Amino acid sequence: MDVNSYEIEELVKKVLGELSGVKSPNRSVSNQAIPTKAHVAYLTALEKFEVKEVDVPPVGDDDILVKVEGCGICGTDAHEFRKDPFGLIPVVLGHEGTGEIIKMGKNVKLDSAGKPLNIGDKVVTCMIFKDNPDITMFDLNKQNVGGADVYGLLKDDDPNNHLKGWFSDYILIKGGSTVFNVSDLDLESRILIEPCAVLIHAVERAKTTGILRFNSRVVVQGVGPIGLICVAVLRTLGIENICAVDGNNKRLEFAKKMGATKTVNFTEYKGIEALSGAVKDAFDGHLADFAFQCTGAPGGHSNIYKFIRNGGGLCELGFFINGGDATINPHFDICSKEITIVGSWVYTLRDYATTFDFLKRSQAIGLPMKELITHKFPLAEINEAMQVNLRQEGFKIAIVNK
Ligand SMILES: NC(=O)c1ccc[n+]([C@@H]2O[C@H](COP(=O)([O-])OP(=O)(O)OC[C@H]3O[C@@H](n4cnc5c(N)ncnc54)[C@H](O)[C@@H]3O)[C@@H](O)[C@H]2O)c1
Ligand SMILES: [Zn+2]
Repeated sequence: MDVNSYEIEELVKKVLGELSGVKSPNRSVSNQAIPTKAHVAYLTALEKFEVKEVDVPPVGDDDILVKVEGCGICGTDAHEFRKDPFGLIPVVLGHEGTGEIIKMGKNVKLDSAGKPLNIGDKVVTCMIFKDNPDITMFDLNKQNVGGADVYGLLKDDDPNNHLKGWFSDYILIKGGSTVFNVSDLDLESRILIEPCAVLIHAVERAKTTGILRFNSRVVVQGVGPIGLICVAVLRTLGIENICAVDGNNKRLEFAKKMGATKTVNFTEYKGIEALSGAVKDAFDGHLADFAFQCTGAPGGHSNIYKFIRNGGGLCELGFFINGGDATINPHFDICSKEITIVGSWVYTLRDYATTFDFLKRSQAIGLPMKELITHKFPLAEINEAMQVNLRQEGFKIAIVNK
């Protein structure tokens, strides 16, 4: 008999599991029934999702069938819902999803970080690589996700497979996708992986300036979900002198729970002099060494230079979509102050892997990461969930299946 090392490992795990009373997961047989039908939330028109029943496609030798547990709603989903800027309608959205492997092809053995994959494991996906050999599953450092395909933002152009987004009860992960085994994270953490990776990347970009240091004074402007996670990442990194700037007191209060030491409500100050004075007061008379711009507001970009000291640094990550032009004075804002600026755009696979550790560490130091998910809706109520998201009634809104 040809016994390979994988089978030996599984046998050892099984024996050890039986000795300790813990059942080892079976590689190929799920205790979940394999369905023939699935339910997907189709965005069929602007502001209209319809939950439809579709066939579950065959699972190929390199594919994975996942039972979806939940998926966060992202700002990009809100843009699609309202305006369809990517021209995807009809489409199954949802890219911040996670779920359990219930079936996989015989060639699937390891995740994109080299960790074994088994039936019953909890997974997330990242990018889908088709033709670019430079970005491979084995080089986690190369390139960011910009331009790559992701589940939940794919055209519904295959008549035999409609399981391409996470707003569904099943999703088919095709061979060639990146997939991570995150069974050691709870459901809420898994739903937060994608937005957290955006901030891991932004902080990595900020570090390249050499200005962001252990003792830095840091402004985080805009404390929606993105800015709130920014505060948490900085705090987890050991940076404790953080001033959050926003116009929403509820968000500013939560920023304090996430680790901001000071907050400034910009609506309470008339003119940029008074506003930058408030930021200076928050740092006991100093301007910030570094600032993260986490609003999509051009006025926010114009303002932020005034919060930064001579020789300081700025990470601009708020303009994921084109929010229009922003006015600055290059003489005062950049040149004479010698500001170092970095832009940040999504993440690399390496950032994704780092995010898993960040999520564990942030909770270990007591940051209320899970409280970021303020609302959970079943798939059938996705239209309402989207409206709650548009009204900015919470922080992160998630679809969670039973
Ligand atoms: N770089 C990336 O890869 C990336 C990824 C995801 C999202 N984003 C962008 O990050 C931004 C923030 O995302 P979010 O989900 O937190 O959005 P959000 O709209 O929930 O939060 C933005 C916050 O900025 C505040 N704000 C608006 N104008 C302000 C001003 N002039 N000064 C101070 N605060 C102001 C708002 O009150 C709000 O709380 C978005 O514009 C989004 O497109 C970027
Ligand atoms: Zn997103």
